[in-house]
Amino acid sequence: MTDKPALKLKRLQDMTVNGKRVLIRVDYNVPMKGSKIEDNARIRETLKTLEYLIAEGGKIVLIAHLGRPKGKVEAKYSLKPVAEELAKLLKKPVAFAADCVGPVAEKAVAALKAGDVLLLENLRFHAEEEANDAAFAKALAKNADLFIQDAFGALHRAHASTAGVTRHLSGAVGFLVQRELEFLDRVIGNPTRPFLAIIGGAKVSDKLAVLDKLLDRVDALLIGGAMAYTFLAAQGINIGKSLLEKDQIDAAKAIIEKAYNKKVECLLPADHLIVREIKADSPASVSQAMAIPSDMIGVDIGPHTIEFFQEHIAKAKTIFWNGPMGIFEMPAFAQGSLAVAKAMSEATGTGAITIVGGGDSLAVLAKTGLAAKMSHCSTGGGASLELLEGKVLPGLAALAS
Ligand code: 3PG
Repeated sequence: MTDKPALKLKRLQDMTVNGKRVLIRVDYNVPMKGSKIEDNARIRETLKTLEYLIAEGGKIVLIAHLGRPKGKVEAKYSLKPVAEELAKLLKKPVAFAADCVGPVAEKAVAALKAGDVLLLENLRFHAEEEANDAAFAKALAKNADLFIQDAFGALHRAHASTAGVTRHLSGAVGFLVQRELEFLDRVIGNPTRPFLAIIGGAKVSDKLAVLDKLLDRVDALLIGGAMAYTFLAAQGINIGKSLLEKDQIDAAKAIIEKAYNKKVECLLPADHLIVREIKADSPASVSQAMAIPSDMIGVDIGPHTIEFFQEHIAKAKTIFWNGPMGIFEMPAFAQGSLAVAKAMSEATGTGAITIVGGGDSLAVLAKTGLAAKMSHCSTGGGASLELLEGKVLPGLAALAS
């Protein structure tokens, strides 16, 4: 980026790993349905780093989080299925330990030989992880001689495994993080214009600060997904029983006002797919306008909105997309997200730079097979947005010398 200091980061290939215990922070926060992994992109993207370390004779100790279990052990957030998936992808055994610190982890690490791979259980089963607790970071570091940061998607979190641990181990960035930074810094720091951002997903509160900063960088902003309803409500438009973050209404108003003052086009859905209740087989209809009848719920952008979103995508030269346009997990409500993915893939074909960020948006691409048709698919949603904002990511700042 042009307006933040360049960080001096060591790279994996600058480290000697032979015979050493290498603690690698990865982002294996993959979408799950029960114990089934719905999209393994985040796991696949780490293979280059892992294969390199295996060939170099490192003893590989992987640490990761899954979901937001908030410090409690919950079977549905276990990383065990991820260890099994990784073993399939690496075509070699991946050991699994039922805790990421303490005797269980230590015993599993002690059993490793050069080139072996071990995945430790979900970091977030300990509240100390998100609290960036010093003793917890030390306990994680105890299991290694070196630290490799390859969890691009978690770099915007200052947690024990992303920040604290670097106080105890010398560290470097893995190939996944290197690839992400090379692309995102180059493209986003100096975008070819018009620069369009398409932001969706459910939570306004998660993305508000980003939207505010984005208005300083982009030429147009399209807002879809459930968060669009809070923006519509902020303009006094009836959104029926659609998801609303009441406490974000004023903030949404401020964003709309800022966009107006800066002459950045900020477009909200003009029609919606609506249902009476959220069920995969609920009969859906299209709202006649921006407003949603009082007894109905918006679940996707409508056909008219799809059309003008497509027109904007076709005109842009750099396009960044984060967050689905509707409840894409239910096929009947995935049309808006699929249409954005398709329009972006066509834009790549005509020379635009297209970037897709975030687990849910990648899951949409996985459904369409269009990932290969994007200029860059980022494994980090929040992290790529914060880079786009121009922020220094805490996980990188902690590693920098
Ligand atoms: C992500 O999915 O964006 C990352 O894994 C970070 O997860 P978090 O938002 O729960 O910290």
